[in-house]
Amino acid sequence: EISQLKDIIAHAKEYGFVYPSSEIYDGLQAVYDYGAYGVELKNNLKRLWWETMTRLNDNIVGIDASIFMHPTTWKASGHVDSFNDPMIDNKDSKKRYRADVLIEDKAAALEKEGNIEASKSLLSAMGKLLEAEDLAGIRELIINEAIKCPISGTTNWTEVRQFNLMFSTQVGAVAEDSSTIYLRPETAQGIFVNFLNVQKTARMKVPFGIAQIGKAFRNEIVARQFIFRMREFEQMEMQFFVRPGTEMEWYKNWADTRMKWHKALGIPEEKIRKHDHEKLAHYANAAMDIEYDFPFGFKEVEGIHSRTDFDLKQHQEFSKKKQQYFDPEINQNYTPYVIETSIGADRLFLMTFCNAFVDEVADGKSRVYLKFHPAIAPVKAAILPLTKKDGLPEKGKEIFEKLKYDFNIIYEDAGSIGKRYTRQDLIGTPFCIAVDHQTLEDDTVTIRHRDTTDQVRVRIDALHGELSEACSF
Ligand code: GAP
Repeated sequence: EISQLKDIIAHAKEYGFVYPSSEIYDGLQAVYDYGAYGVELKNNLKRLWWETMTRLNDNIVGIDASIFMHPTTWKASGHVDSFNDPMIDNKDSKKRYRADVLIEDKAAALEKEGNIEASKSLLSAMGKLLEAEDLAGIRELIINEAIKCPISGTTNWTEVRQFNLMFSTQVGAVAEDSSTIYLRPETAQGIFVNFLNVQKTARMKVPFGIAQIGKAFRNEIVARQFIFRMREFEQMEMQFFVRPGTEMEWYKNWADTRMKWHKALGIPEEKIRKHDHEKLAHYANAAMDIEYDFPFGFKEVEGIHSRTDFDLKQHQEFSKKKQQYFDPEINQNYTPYVIETSIGADRLFLMTFCNAFVDEVADGKSRVYLKFHPAIAPVKAAILPLTKKDGLPEKGKEIFEKLKYDFNIIYEDAGSIGKRYTRQDLIGTPFCIAVDHQTLEDDTVTIRHRDTTDQVRVRIDALHGELSEACSF
Protein backbone atom coordinates (compact mmCIF):
# COMPACT_ATOMS: atom_id res chain seq x y z
CA GLU A 1 0.00 0.00 0.00
CA ILE A 2 2.90 2.32 0.69
CA SER A 3 4.07 1.46 -2.82
CA GLN A 4 0.68 2.70 -4.01
CA LEU A 5 1.49 6.07 -2.40
CA LYS A 6 4.78 6.07 -4.30
CA ASP A 7 2.91 5.46 -7.55
CA ILE A 8 0.50 8.26 -6.72
CA ILE A 9 3.31 10.73 -5.97
CA ALA A 10 5.12 9.77 -9.18
CA HIS A 11 1.91 10.10 -11.22
CA ALA A 12 1.12 13.50 -9.67
CA LYS A 13 4.52 14.78 -10.72
CA GLU A 14 4.75 13.15 -14.14
CA TYR A 15 1.33 14.40 -15.27
CA GLY A 16 1.47 17.99 -14.01
CA PHE A 17 -0.42 17.85 -10.71
CA VAL A 18 2.11 18.35 -7.88
CA TYR A 19 5.85 19.06 -7.85
CA PRO A 20 8.24 19.45 -4.93
CA SER A 21 8.80 23.19 -4.30
CA SER A 22 11.97 24.67 -5.82
CA GLU A 23 12.87 21.25 -7.12
CA ILE A 24 15.97 22.38 -9.05
CA TYR A 25 17.51 23.07 -5.63
CA ASP A 26 16.44 19.59 -4.45
CA GLY A 27 13.15 20.80 -3.02
CA LEU A 28 12.07 22.21 0.32
CA GLN A 29 10.71 19.77 2.86
CA ALA A 30 6.93 19.73 3.25
CA VAL A 31 6.38 22.44 0.65
CA TYR A 32 4.86 21.69 -2.76
CA ASP A 33 3.76 23.44 -5.95
CA TYR A 34 0.74 22.63 -8.08
CA GLY A 35 1.11 22.20 -11.84
CA ALA A 36 -1.22 22.84 -14.79
CA TYR A 37 -3.74 20.12 -13.92
CA GLY A 38 -3.15 20.26 -10.16
CA VAL A 39 -4.14 23.90 -9.94
CA GLU A 40 -7.34 23.20 -11.90
CA LEU A 41 -8.26 20.32 -9.61
CA LYS A 42 -7.49 22.37 -6.50
CA ASN A 43 -9.43 25.38 -7.77
CA ASN A 44 -12.40 23.15 -8.60
CA LEU A 45 -12.37 21.69 -5.09
CA LYS A 46 -12.15 25.13 -3.51
CA ARG A 47 -14.92 26.49 -5.72
CA LEU A 48 -17.16 23.54 -4.94
CA TRP A 49 -16.62 23.98 -1.20
CA TRP A 50 -17.17 27.74 -1.46
CA GLU A 51 -20.37 27.36 -3.45
CA THR A 52 -21.84 24.68 -1.20
CA MET A 53 -21.09 26.79 1.87
CA THR A 54 -22.04 30.28 0.77
CA ARG A 55 -24.56 29.73 -2.03
CA LEU A 56 -26.51 26.74 -0.80
CA ASN A 57 -26.77 28.18 2.71
CA ASP A 58 -28.40 31.60 2.72
CA ASN A 59 -27.14 32.15 6.29
CA ILE A 60 -23.43 31.73 5.45
CA VAL A 61 -21.28 34.49 3.95
CA GLY A 62 -17.58 34.59 3.09
CA ILE A 63 -14.61 36.75 4.02
CA ASP A 64 -10.96 36.98 3.03
CA ALA A 65 -8.81 38.00 6.00
CA SER A 66 -5.07 38.65 6.02
CA ILE A 67 -2.36 36.15 6.83
CA PHE A 68 -0.74 38.64 9.22
CA MET A 69 -2.78 39.54 12.27
CA HIS A 70 -2.16 41.62 15.37
CA PRO A 71 0.14 39.50 17.55
CA THR A 72 -2.26 39.70 20.50
CA THR A 73 -4.67 37.58 18.43
CA TRP A 74 -2.46 34.56 19.07
CA LYS A 75 -2.11 35.29 22.78
CA ALA A 76 -5.90 35.42 23.04
CA SER A 77 -6.47 32.31 20.94
CA GLY A 78 -4.05 30.30 23.08
CA HIS A 79 -1.66 29.54 20.23
CA VAL A 80 1.36 31.31 21.77
CA ASP A 81 1.06 29.23 24.93
CA SER A 82 -0.35 25.94 23.75
CA PHE A 83 -0.03 25.37 20.00
CA ASN A 84 2.69 22.82 20.66
CA ASP A 85 3.51 19.32 19.56
CA PRO A 86 5.54 16.97 21.77
CA MET A 87 8.79 16.10 20.01
CA ILE A 88 11.36 13.42 20.69
CA ASP A 89 14.75 12.63 19.13
CA ASN A 90 16.36 9.29 18.51
CA LYS A 91 19.88 9.50 19.91
CA ASP A 92 21.38 7.15 17.31
CA SER A 93 19.89 8.46 14.07
CA LYS A 94 19.60 12.05 15.41
CA LYS A 95 16.17 12.09 13.75
CA ARG A 96 13.35 14.10 15.28
CA TYR A 97 9.81 12.76 15.59
CA ARG A 98 6.44 13.80 16.89
CA ALA A 99 6.00 11.68 19.99
CA ASP A 100 2.22 11.43 19.54
CA VAL A 101 2.60 10.42 15.88
CA LEU A 102 4.98 7.58 16.85
CA ILE A 103 2.26 6.27 19.14
CA GLU A 104 -0.49 6.82 16.57
CA ASP A 105 1.50 4.84 14.03
CA LYS A 106 1.95 2.01 16.50
CA ALA A 107 -1.82 2.05 17.18
CA ALA A 108 -2.53 1.96 13.44
CA ALA A 109 -0.19 -1.04 13.06
CA LEU A 110 -1.99 -2.84 15.90
CA GLU A 111 -5.35 -2.08 14.27
CA LYS A 112 -4.10 -3.50 10.98
CA GLU A 113 -3.01 -6.71 12.73
CA GLY A 114 -6.58 -7.02 14.02
CA ASN A 115 -5.58 -6.07 17.55
CA ILE A 116 -8.35 -3.49 17.87
CA GLU A 117 -8.55 -3.46 21.67
CA ALA A 118 -4.79 -2.90 22.13
CA SER A 119 -4.89 -0.14 19.52
CA LYS A 120 -7.78 1.61 21.24
CA SER A 121 -6.26 1.38 24.70
CA LEU A 122 -2.95 2.76 23.42
CA LEU A 123 -4.70 5.75 21.84
CA SER A 124 -6.71 6.40 24.94
CA ALA A 125 -3.57 6.21 27.13
CA MET A 126 -1.87 8.71 24.84
CA GLY A 127 -4.95 10.97 24.87
CA LYS A 128 -4.82 11.15 28.66
CA LEU A 129 -1.09 11.87 28.74
CA LEU A 130 -1.44 14.63 26.13
CA GLU A 131 -4.33 16.15 28.03
CA ALA A 132 -2.25 16.20 31.22
CA GLU A 133 0.79 17.42 29.23
CA ASP A 134 2.68 14.60 30.91
CA LEU A 135 5.81 14.61 28.74
CA ALA A 136 7.69 12.09 30.90
CA GLY A 137 4.67 9.78 30.73
CA ILE A 138 4.62 10.02 26.93
CA ARG A 139 8.29 9.01 26.81
CA GLU A 140 7.61 6.12 29.15
CA LEU A 141 4.80 4.92 26.89
CA ILE A 142 7.13 5.02 23.87
CA ILE A 143 9.76 3.00 25.77
CA ASN A 144 7.21 0.51 27.17
CA GLU A 145 5.74 -0.07 23.73
CA ALA A 146 9.30 -0.65 22.46
CA ILE A 147 8.74 1.81 19.61
CA LYS A 148 11.76 1.83 17.35
CA CYS A 149 13.17 4.65 15.27
CA PRO A 150 12.35 3.78 11.65
CA ILE A 151 15.86 4.92 10.61
CA SER A 152 18.20 3.50 13.28
CA GLY A 153 15.91 0.71 14.48
CA THR A 154 16.82 1.48 18.10
CA THR A 155 14.76 2.56 21.11
CA ASN A 156 17.36 5.04 22.36
CA TRP A 157 15.10 8.09 22.88
CA THR A 158 15.69 11.56 24.37
CA GLU A 159 13.30 13.37 26.69
CA VAL A 160 10.03 14.64 25.18
CA ARG A 161 9.89 18.44 24.72
CA GLN A 162 7.15 20.83 23.58
CA PHE A 163 7.66 22.59 20.26
CA ASN A 164 5.58 25.61 19.17
CA LEU A 165 4.39 25.27 15.57
CA MET A 166 3.94 28.94 14.68
CA PHE A 167 6.29 30.63 12.22
CA SER A 168 7.27 34.13 13.26
CA THR A 169 8.81 37.07 11.44
CA GLN A 170 9.51 40.77 12.04
CA VAL A 171 7.48 43.72 10.81
CA GLY A 172 9.02 47.18 10.55
CA ALA A 173 12.35 48.04 8.96
CA VAL A 174 13.97 49.78 11.93
CA ALA A 175 15.12 47.45 14.68
CA GLU A 176 13.65 49.51 17.55
CA ASP A 177 10.23 49.72 15.92
CA SER A 178 10.03 46.15 14.76
CA SER A 179 7.90 43.59 16.45
CA THR A 180 7.35 39.89 16.13
CA ILE A 181 4.33 38.77 14.21
CA TYR A 182 3.19 35.30 13.19
CA LEU A 183 2.10 33.67 9.99
CA ARG A 184 -1.40 32.45 10.87
CA PRO A 185 -1.48 28.76 11.84
CA GLU A 186 -5.25 28.61 11.15
CA THR A 187 -7.63 30.84 9.22
CA ALA A 188 -10.29 30.67 11.96
CA GLN A 189 -8.98 33.63 13.96
CA GLY A 190 -9.47 35.97 11.00
CA ILE A 191 -13.15 35.03 11.21
CA PHE A 192 -13.45 35.46 14.97
CA VAL A 193 -11.91 38.94 15.03
CA ASN A 194 -14.29 39.98 12.22
CA PHE A 195 -17.36 38.41 13.79
CA LEU A 196 -19.11 41.70 14.63
CA ASN A 197 -18.00 43.45 11.42
CA VAL A 198 -19.61 40.71 9.34
CA GLN A 199 -22.66 40.26 11.54
CA LYS A 200 -23.49 43.97 11.34
CA THR A 201 -22.57 44.75 7.74
CA ALA A 202 -24.06 41.63 6.19
CA ARG A 203 -27.05 41.91 8.59
CA MET A 204 -26.74 38.33 9.82
CA LYS A 205 -28.91 36.77 12.51
CA VAL A 206 -27.79 33.88 14.72
CA PRO A 207 -27.55 31.09 13.65
CA PHE A 208 -25.23 32.15 10.84
CA GLY A 209 -21.84 31.22 9.44
CA ILE A 210 -18.70 32.83 8.02
CA ALA A 211 -16.60 30.90 5.51
CA GLN A 212 -13.03 31.50 4.41
CA ILE A 213 -10.38 29.92 2.21
CA GLY A 214 -6.75 30.88 2.73
CA LYS A 215 -3.18 29.94 3.47
CA ALA A 216 -2.05 28.75 6.88
CA PHE A 217 1.46 27.89 8.08
CA ARG A 218 2.76 25.40 10.61
CA ASN A 219 6.33 24.47 11.37
CA GLU A 220 5.50 20.77 11.39
CA ILE A 221 8.16 18.68 13.14
CA VAL A 222 7.90 15.78 10.77
CA ALA A 223 6.96 16.34 7.22
CA ARG A 224 5.94 13.23 5.41
CA GLN A 225 3.25 11.51 3.43
CA PHE A 226 3.46 13.93 0.54
CA ILE A 227 0.92 16.78 0.73
CA PHE A 228 -0.80 15.26 3.78
CA ARG A 229 1.27 17.32 6.22
CA MET A 230 2.75 20.52 4.80
CA ARG A 231 4.40 23.57 6.31
CA GLU A 232 2.48 25.91 4.00
CA PHE A 233 -1.05 24.81 3.15
CA GLU A 234 -4.54 26.07 2.50
CA GLN A 235 -7.48 25.78 4.83
CA MET A 236 -11.19 26.02 4.11
CA GLU A 237 -12.92 26.87 7.35
CA MET A 238 -16.45 27.77 8.31
CA GLN A 239 -17.38 29.14 11.72
CA PHE A 240 -21.07 28.73 12.51
CA PHE A 241 -22.36 30.99 15.32
CA VAL A 242 -25.24 29.56 17.36
CA ARG A 243 -27.32 30.29 20.44
CA PRO A 244 -25.71 28.76 23.59
CA GLY A 245 -27.31 25.44 24.41
CA THR A 246 -28.00 24.55 20.78
CA GLU A 247 -24.39 23.72 19.91
CA MET A 248 -24.56 19.93 20.18
CA GLU A 249 -27.46 19.78 17.76
CA TRP A 250 -25.55 21.93 15.24
CA TYR A 251 -22.37 19.92 15.83
CA LYS A 252 -24.11 16.69 14.78
CA ASN A 253 -25.86 18.46 11.96
CA TRP A 254 -22.64 19.81 10.44
CA ALA A 255 -20.81 16.50 10.85
CA ASP A 256 -23.58 14.77 8.86
CA THR A 257 -23.73 17.50 6.24
CA ARG A 258 -20.00 17.34 5.65
CA MET A 259 -19.99 13.51 5.43
CA LYS A 260 -22.69 13.73 2.76
CA TRP A 261 -20.59 16.25 0.82
CA HIS A 262 -17.60 13.91 0.70
CA LYS A 263 -19.76 11.01 -0.44
CA ALA A 264 -21.31 13.18 -3.17
CA LEU A 265 -17.75 13.78 -4.41
CA GLY A 266 -17.49 10.06 -5.02
CA ILE A 267 -15.80 8.84 -1.82
CA PRO A 268 -17.21 5.34 -1.13
CA GLU A 269 -18.93 4.60 2.18
CA GLU A 270 -16.26 2.14 3.35
CA LYS A 271 -13.36 4.57 2.75
CA ILE A 272 -14.59 7.36 5.01
CA ARG A 273 -15.57 7.48 8.67
CA LYS A 274 -16.15 9.74 11.65
CA HIS A 275 -13.71 9.50 14.52
CA ASP A 276 -14.26 11.18 17.90
CA HIS A 277 -11.17 12.84 19.38
CA GLU A 278 -9.37 11.16 22.25
CA LYS A 279 -7.94 14.50 23.26
CA LEU A 280 -9.86 17.77 23.01
CA ALA A 281 -8.04 20.94 21.93
CA HIS A 282 -7.91 23.76 24.47
CA TYR A 283 -10.95 25.44 22.91
CA ALA A 284 -13.33 22.53 22.31
CA ASN A 285 -16.10 20.72 24.21
CA ALA A 286 -16.63 18.16 21.44
CA ALA A 287 -14.55 17.31 18.38
CA MET A 288 -14.35 14.72 15.67
CA ASP A 289 -12.37 14.06 12.55
CA ILE A 290 -13.68 12.89 9.23
CA GLU A 291 -11.10 10.30 8.22
CA TYR A 292 -10.27 8.81 4.84
CA ASP A 293 -8.56 5.49 4.22
CA PHE A 294 -5.33 6.78 2.62
CA PRO A 295 -2.68 4.31 1.35
CA PHE A 296 -1.07 4.87 4.80
CA GLY A 297 -4.28 4.16 6.75
CA PHE A 298 -7.32 6.05 8.03
CA LYS A 299 -6.26 9.66 8.69
CA GLU A 300 -7.94 13.01 9.30
CA VAL A 301 -9.22 14.99 6.32
CA GLU A 302 -11.55 17.39 8.06
CA GLY A 303 -12.18 18.47 11.65
CA ILE A 304 -15.60 19.29 13.11
CA HIS A 305 -15.21 21.15 16.38
CA SER A 306 -17.58 22.56 18.93
CA ARG A 307 -15.46 25.52 20.07
CA THR A 308 -17.92 26.87 22.66
CA ASP A 309 -17.67 30.63 23.26
CA PHE A 310 -13.93 30.28 23.98
CA ASP A 311 -12.54 32.35 21.11
CA LEU A 312 -14.99 35.25 21.23
CA LYS A 313 -14.67 35.47 25.03
CA GLN A 314 -10.89 35.46 24.80
CA HIS A 315 -10.91 38.21 22.17
CA GLN A 316 -13.30 40.24 24.30
CA GLU A 317 -10.97 39.93 27.27
CA PHE A 318 -7.77 40.77 25.37
CA SER A 319 -9.22 43.54 23.16
CA LYS A 320 -11.56 44.99 25.81
CA LYS A 321 -14.19 45.23 23.04
CA LYS A 322 -17.53 43.56 23.59
CA GLN A 323 -17.96 40.51 21.38
CA GLN A 324 -21.64 39.89 21.96
CA TYR A 325 -24.78 39.53 19.93
CA PHE A 326 -28.23 40.85 20.73
CA ASP A 327 -30.77 38.16 19.88
CA PRO A 328 -34.07 39.92 19.05
CA GLU A 329 -36.02 36.67 19.26
CA ILE A 330 -35.32 36.16 22.94
CA ASN A 331 -34.41 39.76 23.80
CA GLN A 332 -31.00 38.81 25.18
CA ASN A 333 -27.34 39.63 24.76
CA TYR A 334 -24.97 36.68 24.66
CA THR A 335 -21.65 35.42 23.34
CA PRO A 336 -22.53 32.94 20.57
CA TYR A 337 -21.20 29.37 20.63
CA VAL A 338 -19.30 28.21 17.58
CA ILE A 339 -19.32 25.05 15.52
CA GLU A 340 -16.40 24.88 13.14
CA THR A 341 -15.86 22.80 10.03
CA SER A 342 -12.21 22.86 8.99
CA ILE A 343 -10.64 21.12 6.04
CA GLY A 344 -7.29 21.46 4.31
CA ALA A 345 -7.64 22.08 0.57
CA ASP A 346 -4.42 20.14 -0.01
CA ARG A 347 -5.57 17.20 2.08
CA LEU A 348 -8.89 17.17 0.25
CA PHE A 349 -6.85 17.21 -2.96
CA LEU A 350 -4.84 14.19 -1.76
CA MET A 351 -8.01 12.31 -0.80
CA THR A 352 -9.70 12.90 -4.16
CA PHE A 353 -6.47 12.06 -5.99
CA CYS A 354 -5.97 8.76 -4.08
CA ASN A 355 -9.64 7.94 -4.56
CA ALA A 356 -9.46 8.61 -8.30
CA PHE A 357 -6.24 6.68 -8.97
CA VAL A 358 -7.01 3.44 -10.83
CA ASP A 359 -4.31 1.04 -11.98
CA GLU A 360 -6.12 -1.94 -13.45
CA VAL A 361 -5.68 -4.79 -15.88
CA ALA A 362 -8.49 -5.11 -18.41
CA ASP A 363 -8.43 -7.53 -21.37
CA GLY A 364 -4.85 -8.43 -20.51
CA LYS A 365 -3.72 -4.81 -20.77
CA SER A 366 -2.90 -2.54 -17.88
CA ARG A 367 -4.58 0.84 -17.82
CA VAL A 368 -4.01 3.77 -15.44
CA TYR A 369 -6.59 6.51 -15.20
CA LEU A 370 -7.93 9.08 -12.75
CA LYS A 371 -11.65 8.66 -12.21
CA PHE A 372 -12.44 12.15 -10.90
CA HIS A 373 -16.06 13.20 -10.55
CA PRO A 374 -16.52 15.35 -13.71
CA ALA A 375 -17.33 18.35 -11.49
CA ILE A 376 -13.73 18.41 -10.20
CA ALA A 377 -11.84 16.95 -13.18
CA PRO A 378 -9.13 19.44 -14.28
CA VAL A 379 -10.12 19.09 -17.93
CA LYS A 380 -13.73 18.29 -18.78
CA ALA A 381 -13.28 17.24 -22.39
CA ALA A 382 -10.65 16.86 -25.12
CA ILE A 383 -11.56 17.63 -28.72
CA LEU A 384 -9.67 15.18 -30.91
CA PRO A 385 -9.89 15.24 -34.73
CA LEU A 386 -9.12 11.77 -36.04
CA THR A 387 -6.66 13.05 -38.65
CA LYS A 388 -4.90 16.33 -39.40
CA LYS A 389 -6.45 16.67 -42.85
CA ASP A 390 -9.75 16.75 -44.78
CA GLY A 391 -11.04 19.71 -42.75
CA LEU A 392 -11.28 17.71 -39.50
CA PRO A 393 -9.03 20.12 -37.52
CA GLU A 394 -11.18 23.07 -38.63
CA LYS A 395 -14.34 21.29 -37.53
CA GLY A 396 -12.68 20.34 -34.22
CA LYS A 397 -11.63 23.94 -33.57
CA GLU A 398 -15.17 25.11 -34.30
CA ILE A 399 -16.47 22.80 -31.54
CA PHE A 400 -13.65 23.93 -29.23
CA GLU A 401 -14.60 27.60 -29.73
CA LYS A 402 -18.23 26.82 -28.88
CA LEU A 403 -17.45 25.03 -25.61
CA LYS A 404 -14.42 26.85 -24.23
CA TYR A 405 -16.37 29.68 -22.57
CA ASP A 406 -18.14 27.31 -20.20
CA PHE A 407 -15.73 24.39 -19.78
CA ASN A 408 -12.02 23.88 -19.37
CA ILE A 409 -11.33 21.82 -22.51
CA ILE A 410 -8.33 20.81 -24.59
CA TYR A 411 -7.86 20.62 -28.36
CA GLU A 412 -5.29 18.16 -29.66
CA ASP A 413 -4.69 16.86 -33.18
CA ALA A 414 -1.19 15.31 -33.01
CA GLY A 415 -0.45 11.61 -32.51
CA SER A 416 -2.53 8.47 -32.80
CA ILE A 417 -6.05 8.61 -31.36
CA GLY A 418 -5.24 5.75 -28.97
CA LYS A 419 -2.26 7.63 -27.49
CA ARG A 420 -4.36 10.76 -27.16
CA TYR A 421 -7.08 8.82 -25.28
CA THR A 422 -4.44 7.40 -22.94
CA ARG A 423 -3.01 10.82 -22.24
CA GLN A 424 -6.48 12.13 -21.27
CA ASP A 425 -7.06 9.07 -19.05
CA LEU A 426 -3.85 9.86 -17.19
CA ILE A 427 -5.01 13.39 -16.31
CA GLY A 428 -8.57 12.26 -15.59
CA THR A 429 -10.49 13.88 -18.46
CA PRO A 430 -13.97 12.31 -18.33
CA PHE A 431 -14.87 12.80 -22.01
CA CYS A 432 -12.95 12.60 -25.28
CA ILE A 433 -14.77 14.03 -28.26
CA ALA A 434 -13.56 12.49 -31.52
CA VAL A 435 -14.19 14.35 -34.78
CA ASP A 436 -14.21 12.07 -37.87
CA HIS A 437 -15.38 12.08 -41.48
CA GLN A 438 -18.95 11.32 -40.50
CA THR A 439 -18.92 14.56 -38.46
CA LEU A 440 -18.55 16.53 -41.70
CA GLU A 441 -21.66 14.82 -43.09
CA ASP A 442 -24.10 14.77 -40.18
CA ASP A 443 -22.70 17.05 -37.42
CA THR A 444 -22.29 14.19 -34.95
CA VAL A 445 -19.18 13.26 -32.94
CA THR A 446 -18.11 10.30 -30.83
CA ILE A 447 -17.92 10.75 -27.07
CA ARG A 448 -15.55 8.28 -25.47
CA HIS A 449 -16.18 7.80 -21.74
CA ARG A 450 -13.06 7.60 -19.55
CA ASP A 451 -14.21 4.99 -17.00
CA THR A 452 -15.86 2.50 -19.35
CA THR A 453 -14.06 3.45 -22.62
CA ASP A 454 -17.53 3.15 -24.21
CA GLN A 455 -18.07 5.27 -27.30
CA VAL A 456 -21.38 6.96 -28.06
CA ARG A 457 -22.46 8.99 -31.08
CA VAL A 458 -23.83 12.42 -30.15
CA ARG A 459 -25.03 15.50 -32.09
CA ILE A 460 -22.65 18.50 -31.78
CA ASP A 461 -25.47 20.74 -30.61
CA ALA A 462 -26.16 18.32 -27.71
CA LEU A 463 -22.57 18.47 -26.39
CA HIS A 464 -23.02 21.55 -24.22
CA GLY A 465 -26.04 20.06 -22.47
CA GLU A 466 -24.36 16.69 -21.95
CA LEU A 467 -21.24 18.27 -20.43
CA SER A 468 -23.28 20.60 -18.22
CA GLU A 469 -25.29 17.75 -16.83
CA ALA A 470 -22.29 15.48 -16.22
CA CYS A 471 -20.25 18.25 -14.56
CA SER A 472 -22.96 19.41 -12.18
CA PHE A 473 -22.52 18.52 -8.52
N1 GAP B 1 -9.25 25.83 13.06
C1 GAP B 1 -9.13 24.49 13.48
C2 GAP B 1 -7.97 23.81 12.90
O1 GAP B 1 -7.10 24.43 12.31
P1 GAP B 1 -6.85 21.45 12.65
O2 GAP B 1 -7.43 20.09 12.93
O3 GAP B 1 -5.55 21.80 13.26
O4 GAP B 1 -7.98 22.47 13.10
C3 GAP B 1 -7.89 21.52 10.27
O5 GAP B 1 -6.75 21.63 11.08
C4 GAP B 1 -7.59 20.87 8.95
O6 GAP B 1 -6.52 21.54 8.29
C5 GAP B 1 -7.12 19.42 9.06
O7 GAP B 1 -8.22 18.55 9.12
C6 GAP B 1 -6.34 19.24 7.77
O8 GAP B 1 -7.22 18.95 6.70
C7 GAP B 1 -5.75 20.62 7.55
N2 GAP B 1 -4.34 20.66 8.02
C8 GAP B 1 -3.90 20.88 9.26
N3 GAP B 1 -2.55 20.86 9.32
C9 GAP B 1 -2.14 20.61 8.05
C10 GAP B 1 -0.84 20.46 7.44
N4 GAP B 1 0.28 20.59 8.13
N5 GAP B 1 -0.79 20.20 6.10
C11 GAP B 1 -1.93 20.08 5.38
N6 GAP B 1 -3.16 20.22 5.91
C12 GAP B 1 -3.27 20.47 7.22
